[in-house]
Amino acid sequence: MSEPLDLAAFPASFAWGTATSAYQIEGAVAEDGRAPSIWDTFSRVPGAIDNGDHGDTACDHYHRWPEDVALMKGLGTDAYRLSVAWPRVVPGGDGPVNEAGLDFYDRLVDGLLDAGITPSVTLYHWDLPQALQDRGGWTVRETAEHLAAYAGVVAGRLGDRVTQWATLNEPLCSAWIGHLEGRMAPGLTDLTTAVRASYHLLLGHGLATAAVRAAAPGARVGLVTNHSTVTPASTRPEDVAAAVRMDGHTNRWWLDPVLGRGFPADMRELYGVELPERQGDTEVIAAPLDWHGLNYYFPVTVADDPRGPVPHAREVRLPGVPRTGMDWQIDAGGLEAFLLRLTEDYGVRRLYVTENGSAFPDTTGPDGEVHDPERTRYLEEHLAACARALRKGVPLAGYYAWSLLDNFEWAYGYDKRFGLVHVDYATQRRTVKTSGRRYAELIAAHRALHAR
Ligand code: IFM
Repeated sequence: MSEPLDLAAFPASFAWGTATSAYQIEGAVAEDGRAPSIWDTFSRVPGAIDNGDHGDTACDHYHRWPEDVALMKGLGTDAYRLSVAWPRVVPGGDGPVNEAGLDFYDRLVDGLLDAGITPSVTLYHWDLPQALQDRGGWTVRETAEHLAAYAGVVAGRLGDRVTQWATLNEPLCSAWIGHLEGRMAPGLTDLTTAVRASYHLLLGHGLATAAVRAAAPGARVGLVTNHSTVTPASTRPEDVAAAVRMDGHTNRWWLDPVLGRGFPADMRELYGVELPERQGDTEVIAAPLDWHGLNYYFPVTVADDPRGPVPHAREVRLPGVPRTGMDWQIDAGGLEAFLLRLTEDYGVRRLYVTENGSAFPDTTGPDGEVHDPERTRYLEEHLAACARALRKGVPLAGYYAWSLLDNFEWAYGYDKRFGLVHVDYATQRRTVKTSGRRYAELIAAHRALHAR
């Protein structure tokens, strides 16, 4: 049994949301002037994506967004985190703006606001215009500059109605999984390339922060990063050192430079790659932010792996520990711990859980309902972790469940389902799962508490 949720710990103003991203749900990849992104290209590489899946249609959200907004409203959520597809808005990556692409987000934002749902817009959730990849992608500085120009265009159009902005989603995945491990677009496997990409992503974040603020005064800008707590598998000094390296690779490399500490010296030495730094970059990357977004899914336990790839630490599977359908360890304590770390160690003063959720193989019952007790439990346990963090003084302002809908789970295609709402891809029928109903109940109970 999950512990009872301490709803009174959540302030009255707490934002209850869901999250998605453009390529994972929109489809309509060739409509209204959208050009290919690196994910359109990568999903055509034989063997790159399970079942040969791709985002051509996905959840057809591009056409069905009014139904999806109605679903959010039905759940009682008051916040929605979406991403804008760069290749819809500036199809060439730089240069001409595609007004038809912007019009889509214009309509969506208006639809959300009409439904009483506050949009939180992420500018880059991995769908780099292929035209920019052809010119070097994140390995070249110009891509960071183009991100800022594109960010200014979007903020200029939507900034009269959208105040909550994120520059990037999970730059770790773009850099490490996309350029080092090769499991995500653009599918590269080179450390020097990956480190350069990581640098330009963070530089792009800083430049885009300024561009959004210039185009939309009053904008509240943040960065969304994904993290795991890291525990050594034993007290052996080698395992302890491996955990420090893994923490550097997964957490400090991304947080330290953005939160004013510069790139961690131990990791610079470990990577042994010269950063493409220029004077003034440090300050750009560390631009003070209005909030920080934490995406948390799982903790990791690691052992030394001297012959393995950087950071020479391998995950150890703990016996008897529950795991999701992604084979990710379940431990809500890691969410509480990371929220506390961001607050107490890094001094972040406004936080959101911008993603949290779980994939499980769902089954539809004879009653036509999708019963997902494991996802429901995961949700309850992680909300309980948020409540404990709030009680300890963490300035947590909202929670966005990943995800509103089952969607295109990148290299895993459509088999891994994270939605609170089930999508039948053959018919595009949406069915709220038991977990979605539970989320709605909790939101309603929280509102009732504060209405008294
Ligand atoms: O689906 C992804 C999302 O795009 C980024 N964060 C993690 C999710 C689950 O893997």
